[in-house]
Amino acid sequence: MQIIKKIDGLRSIVREWRRAGLTIGLVPTMGYLHEGHKSLIERAVRENDKVVVSDFVNPTQFAPNEDFESYPRDIDADARLCEGAGASLIFNPEPDEMYDNALTFVDMRKLTEVLCGKTRPIHFSGVCTVVSKLFNIVTPDRAYFGQKDAQQLCVIRKMVKDLNFGIEIVGCPIIRESDGLAKSSRNTYLNPSERQAALCLSRSLEIGKRLLADGEKNIGVIIAAIAAEIEKEPLAKIDYVEIADWNTLEPLETARAPLLCAIAVYIGKTRLIDNFIVE
Ligand code: PAJ
Repeated sequence: MQIIKKIDGLRSIVREWRRAGLTIGLVPTMGYLHEGHKSLIERAVRENDKVVVSDFVNPTQFAPNEDFESYPRDIDADARLCEGAGASLIFNPEPDEMYDNALTFVDMRKLTEVLCGKTRPIHFSGVCTVVSKLFNIVTPDRAYFGQKDAQQLCVIRKMVKDLNFGIEIVGCPIIRESDGLAKSSRNTYLNPSERQAALCLSRSLEIGKRLLADGEKNIGVIIAAIAAEIEKEPLAKIDYVEIADWNTLEPLETARAPLLCAIAVYIGKTRLIDNFIVE
């Protein structure tokens, strides 16, 4: 697997692909790749002639108190996974290559101020900035994002529309462990008892899903049932349980599609997110 570290090097490869009339898919990641990332890469390989996987732990989306330094990294394992999934190359720049004394950042209002934005106020500015830079460097036809990070998917779709990137954003379903836990690079932080406790996220969402399917319309009732299930778990601490309009992310009072039910929960020191969408 070819690992490209420099922007200019990647640009000249992309130029050759473009000259040959090939289509390009981009899968942005922070590495430590798992089956969730792999599902995005495989879909990109099916739908494009060439696929770039970016593998970059992006410093600007971490607050000083967050896990930028300790975020897991393993470029050799990532290269093997990308090779197996059929990617064309990995773009793995150093922070200085991406942010050479940069003074320009991409900010978005409203969509970034709710849900995860409440406790992570600078996070989405970092995400929008790095994804814009990747779009400008790779110039993909399509870019692939997981519904695991539903707010991120919503924000990126809006950014692409607002800034006229002309890139198709493909949303991909959440890949889970066999017991229901959504796959995440951060699951490696969990010790065995925390790993067991983390099942309260998917279990609580199943309760919310069932209430909706049974016709419950009162959002307060659904949120209370989800929260009650999480609170049964002594190692869990709720950051938020919210049900919002899936396009505007504004909170709903009465259930109606399209709807996003999203939760963020601390299991010990590890903050995990999960969600479901009713289209
Ligand atoms: P990262 O957390 O590495 O995730 C990269 C992509 O994989 C995201 O689109 C995410 O939603 C998707 N993904 C992660 N776990 C998944 C799962 N269990 N099922 C399906 N898809 C999953 O998200 C980021 O990196 C960064 O914010 C990034 C967009 C790369 C910008 O730095």
